[in-house]
Amino acid sequence: MCRHRLVNVRRFVTIVGLVAATVLNAQVALASTERADALVHSTLQLDVDARRGSTVFAQHCARCHGNAAVGDAAKGIPALAGQRKSYLVKQLADFLERDRAGAAMHGVVSQQAIAEPQVWADVANFLSNLTPQPAPATGDGGQLQLGEAIFRDQCASCHADDGRGDDDGFVPSLRNQHYPYLVQQIRSISRWHRANVESDLVLYLDSLSADETLAVADYLSRLSTPVRDRVVLQPDGTLKDAGDQTQADCKQSVPCTKPD
Ligand code: HEC
Ligand code: HEC
Repeated sequence: MCRHRLVNVRRFVTIVGLVAATVLNAQVALASTERADALVHSTLQLDVDARRGSTVFAQHCARCHGNAAVGDAAKGIPALAGQRKSYLVKQLADFLERDRAGAAMHGVVSQQAIAEPQVWADVANFLSNLTPQPAPATGDGGQLQLGEAIFRDQCASCHADDGRGDDDGFVPSLRNQHYPYLVQQIRSISRWHRANVESDLVLYLDSLSADETLAVADYLSRLSTPVRDRVVLQPDGTLKDAGDQTQADCKQSVPCTKPD
């Protein structure tokens, strides 16, 4: 009887301990997402210096992401060129606060020279203005119609019809990105490897079957032509209809993935 009671007491203590640990973890996660969001907010207020961004990238990032920031499909390293500025800043904050998994990037953002909002503002600005990866690695092309149908039905409402994303909602461009990286991220987001995201996104991605994941990633990896912005902001502040924007235009002054 006595022994039985002792076992029950132990079990009770264990359960209380587990509940306390879960509550504590949830609080820690909440605190870290709040810190990440505050960092993003203040980073986006800063003035930027594109030249400083270029230097930081060459010194601290290019060895993995490539000199032109076009990534490395075989190593699971994403292209960053032409990616949305706000999204890039948010990812750096999320890596710093460990709200996004990824040992390589945890090591990078923890370096003293990098763990600085001004550095993120400069490097994100530099990257978002680079010419996007012109020829990402693709899948086998076997299920492109299925991939397109999924994208239009389930993804385009946030990522835009042509996958360009937007800066206001921190929605990434899914264009000009390598297939293996897209597959890996769809899987990892659906397994909660990013804590600072809406649970709806996790559920959307978790609802895809293995085949659907490969199909939509393959379709996306082929969206690598320049985006045809209807209106773009010129350096002199005027708006220009850029329906006929070419890759050459993109290289000169106007990034191809700016919002309307
Ligand atoms: C040691 C190699 C390495 C270095 C150096 C490195 N990265 Fe990364 N980076 C990676 C890998 C690997 C990933 C993919 C992480 C994952 O699997 O989620 C990544 C992902 C990212 C992402 C997320 C992209 C997306 O589409 O979500 C950003 C932003 C990023 N890196 C920026 C940088 C910047 C800025 C620097 C330099 C300050 C840098 N990286 C240096 C390896 C590296
Ligand atoms: C409710 C809006 C919404 C919908 C619907 C949505 N996404 Fe996203 N997606 C986002 C946001 C916001 C992020 C950025 C998450 C973050 O901040 O880390 C994202 C991130 C991603 C990423 C990571 C990109 C990178 O560079 O690492 C992939 C891949 C992705 N989404 C694919 C999809 C696919 C495929 C679908 C459709 C099945 C989809 N998304 C539907 C909003 C959405």
